[in-house]
Amino acid sequence: MRRRFRKFTPVWTGMAVLALSGPLTPALAQMKGDGAAIAAKGTPAGALACMTCHGTQGEGNAAAGFPRLAGLPAQYLAAQLDSFAADKRQNPIMGPIAKQLDAAQRQAVAGYYGALAPVAAPASPEGGALRQTDTGAWLALRGRWDHDLPACVQCHGPGGTGVGAAFPALAGQSSAYIAAQLHAFKNGTRPGGPQDLMKAVAGKLSDGDITAVSNYFGGAKP
Ligand code: HEC
Ligand code: HEC
Repeated sequence: MRRRFRKFTPVWTGMAVLALSGPLTPALAQMKGDGAAIAAKGTPAGALACMTCHGTQGEGNAAAGFPRLAGLPAQYLAAQLDSFAADKRQNPIMGPIAKQLDAAQRQAVAGYYGALAPVAAPASPEGGALRQTDTGAWLALRGRWDHDLPACVQCHGPGGTGVGAAFPALAGQSSAYIAAQLHAFKNGTRPGGPQDLMKAVAGKLSDGDITAVSNYFGGAKP
């Protein structure tokens, strides 16, 4: 389903859902419709339209520090919204917005963004001579095994384009957003995710490492 809708713009996704409403259960069609409406218009309970900050295509706004949502795994996005709503992932902007959505609305809007086009792999990320003195690229592509630190791409996929339902894409996010998240994992204002993996990773990064690896992925243009 996700693959099939990938090439459509949000408008087309809505129309395709209508056209296919025969084989889809009414509940699913309703859910998808709700997700698109929440993204574009917000909710009567007062949640702001997601597009205001996250862009009309869910592409984010690098200058303002609003992350890309398009094509991130729906399950991951729903978990983040639940986490914001429960104040586990602490953020003064997203906390109140997530609380204004009920659990079904969080699922629906996560499903909507998850079905939008994912970021394409950056051109040959491993091209050129990789040197250990280039800290950002080295951490991203090789890791630091003497400190039990795997390469970021081992979990986040080649070029940081994401893997499965649990590992979000880093490609397409700004360096400022990536750095802020690494600091949040490190200082505990954001939970470490499944098996606390990101707490373990971020805990092994110095401030200099965080800047270098964030610039590496933030500069890896979609
Ligand atoms: C006023 C601006 C604003 C609006 C409106 C907004 N967001 Fe956000 N959103 C943010 C910011 C800022 C962050 C980064 C928070 C952080 O640093 O942890 C964020 C982060 C997120 C994340 C985490 C992404 C990730 O990669 O982990 C999700 C999911 C999200 N927003 C969903 C939504 C949804 C759904 C809506 C609409 C109901 C919405 N946002 C409306 C500003 C906004
Ligand atoms: C062992 C697997 C693993 C490794 C290695 C790993 N990550 Fe992650 N990363 C995860 C998981 C799982 C999540 C999702 C956390 C959650 O659910 O909140 C994540 C989330 C993130 C996020 C948040 C993305 C967003 O949209 O908010 C950033 C940023 C990040 N990782 C950066 C890195 C960097 C940089 C490296 C390399 C230094 C790295 N990760 C290495 C597993 C890993």
